[in-house]
Amino acid sequence: MDKDMIDRIIGKYNGEERSLIQVLMDIQHENHWLPREVLQTVSEKLNVPLSDILHIVTFYKTFSLNPKGRHEIHVCMGSSCHLHGAQDLLDKVQDLTGIKPGETTADSRFSLESGSCLGCCALGPEVVIDGNHHSRLTPDNIEEVLKNYE
Ligand code: FES
Repeated sequence: MDKDMIDRIIGKYNGEERSLIQVLMDIQHENHWLPREVLQTVSEKLNVPLSDILHIVTFYKTFSLNPKGRHEIHVCMGSSCHLHGAQDLLDKVQDLTGIKPGETTADSRFSLESGSCLGCCALGPEVVIDGNHHSRLTPDNIEEVLKNYE
């Protein structure tokens, strides 16, 4: 991530210390993860100790300290989705992408996560990709959905 991007994001918030979380969220959004050297730069520019920043980015799941793919797939494994075939769906996503939850494809196309209820149980099994909800997916139609995310 280039320094111009960091400067632009910090400048958007006038370099104010209180904008730290928003700055980190914007960097996460644009860069898909938070490299250590970027956090060091943010620490210096906002005059916030690096240890405080590390505490924040390890506490909130929205931040990643590891490289992420261009598209983030989240397969719901909550009880309702589980009853409606979420495990078969997750297995198919793993077959198609070649990665397991917590991993990123070698070409940085996808990162995969699985986890708890996404709040729309009646429509499950539910998959969220880049914040877009996809409902009632099956192992037979998930490949068509993934084709929309190059
Ligand atoms: S259990 Fe999957 S959305 Fe609630």
